[in-house]
Amino acid sequence: MRLKFLIIGIFFVLLFFIFGIFLVKEKQMNEIELRSTPQWRNLEKNYKELKKVHLRDLFKDENRFCEFSVRDNDLGLTFDYSKNIINSCTFRLLMDFVKAAKVNECARKMFSGEKINWTEQRAVLHTALRNRGNKSVYVDGEDVMPKINAVLEKMKKFSNDLRSGEWRGATGKKITDIVNIGIGGSDLGPRMVCEALKYYADGPNVYFVSNVDGVDICDVLKKLNRETTLFIVASKTFTTIETITNALTARRWITNKLGDSAVVKHFVALSTNAKKVKEFGISENNMFKFWDFVGGRYSLWSAIGLPIACYIGFDKFVELLEGAYYMDQHFLNSPYEKNIPVIMAALGFWYNNFFGASTYAILPYSKYLHKFPAYLQQVDMESNGKTINFEGNRVNYETGPIIWGEAGTNGQHSFYQLIHQGTKFIPCDFIGFINPLEKVGDHHEKLMANYFAQPEALAFGLTKDEVIGNLRKAGISSSEIELLTPHKTFDGNKPTNSILINKLTPRTLGALIALYEHKIFTQGVMWKINSFDQWGVELGKVLANVILLDLKGETDNKHDSSTSGLIKIFKSNKN
Ligand code: F6P
Repeated sequence: MRLKFLIIGIFFVLLFFIFGIFLVKEKQMNEIELRSTPQWRNLEKNYKELKKVHLRDLFKDENRFCEFSVRDNDLGLTFDYSKNIINSCTFRLLMDFVKAAKVNECARKMFSGEKINWTEQRAVLHTALRNRGNKSVYVDGEDVMPKINAVLEKMKKFSNDLRSGEWRGATGKKITDIVNIGIGGSDLGPRMVCEALKYYADGPNVYFVSNVDGVDICDVLKKLNRETTLFIVASKTFTTIETITNALTARRWITNKLGDSAVVKHFVALSTNAKKVKEFGISENNMFKFWDFVGGRYSLWSAIGLPIACYIGFDKFVELLEGAYYMDQHFLNSPYEKNIPVIMAALGFWYNNFFGASTYAILPYSKYLHKFPAYLQQVDMESNGKTINFEGNRVNYETGPIIWGEAGTNGQHSFYQLIHQGTKFIPCDFIGFINPLEKVGDHHEKLMANYFAQPEALAFGLTKDEVIGNLRKAGISSSEIELLTPHKTFDGNKPTNSILINKLTPRTLGALIALYEHKIFTQGVMWKINSFDQWGVELGKVLANVILLDLKGETDNKHDSSTSGLIKIFKSNKN
């Protein structure tokens, strides 16, 4: 009898103990400072070992490519991350970190409409905009899918009518040119996609005006005919000063010659703010809605995608959504170890937080993707450029990196020198396509030879001995060899990811964009920050409004001596 009680007693003590460990672990990721968690500490230890290792050594393992790459046959996409400074242990520890951060649980909250943007009390549902499975998604008890589908239908009709000539300008002429007026997320996404999918374009010409610098709109208007031009005014808030200023200039340009009644045939609005759209003079019929649960930088899948639908046709716009939906499912349902956005996020975190890499380069080997780095700058830096964590405390670790880049091979003839031989440590993503859009001679082989060569050169470099050997073979004198060798040596050991896709299509582009969106989301969760607000852009906007009145002579506000000095020079030298 006693023994029985003893066994039951031991059993409960053990249970208590296990439960206790579980609670402490939970607490560690949620409440204890991130850098003190066992997951972070383990990575720190691993980093101390890995920083002494060269990719040349890691690649002695012939199986490395198989171990550290993911192929998705359906999408025709290979993600090779073998040229990263990691071993199997690093990878396991990074995945442990992701697990402890509960990335999948957080993603499910986002997809299901929970208000994860807690500083603005908003759901984050760009994924619902491309929810091709059409499963209900609820916000405040309302299924958002019917209204999303209704706007898609409206976009379909409008883009079809515009392209077919059913929709005509005020004087009865077919619309041949569209001008999208917007900035930030209301510009960069649709602009990047239109550029990327230019090959598929068979609709009207599309221009983008974003800058409040008057030359932006003037340059575009100079090329256009009022009777055949349609303006799309894209602004989530419809209060953004740059956009409204440009839209007013465009409206004057139309009404001066065609009269006020022409506005209805030459202006449409994409916005969440019906009141302001109406005040501007655009009727509700010409308004394409989206909602607060769509962040500006994540909005190209919403009504903000209207210029894309007009440019390449609605069916191809849907293919773009389908590609993104495919990546959404991959992100939600693949195990972390095979999950491309999660792996990319974890690697970025590895370099950002352990190797001290403060910048990250995006290098697409496709002329048409030349706007992709600029687009990602907003998505990544506006999302993860934050210092305050979930608990409202300042973080004591690095968060979002500086994103930059350029299309290959142009970048090679510009800044690659610094990546190869400079003192900065810059992880890079190389994006390339197996099949070209235009088959011209051996252009594509030449482009792709560079796409393969650069990561190889960055990883393996050129040793001193190799340099000396090469110079000797070229018949260079010993004194010159001595002089040149340090300059011609490449340390290598520069990490890269290679994303190799069968072809640039609306579907693969949709998947590629969603891949980066989810990478950014995952990193936000790992850093415990809110990736979906952007308070950091407010202060400058407020001050600009105050200074505008000073410049116009309506006020004379007191500023610091530098700002006041500059304003004074501006005013006294202005013609
Ligand atoms: O200033 C930053 C920002 O608020 C972005 O987040 C947004 O994409 C952009 O301005 C444009 O805002 P809106 O679409 O409301 O004009």
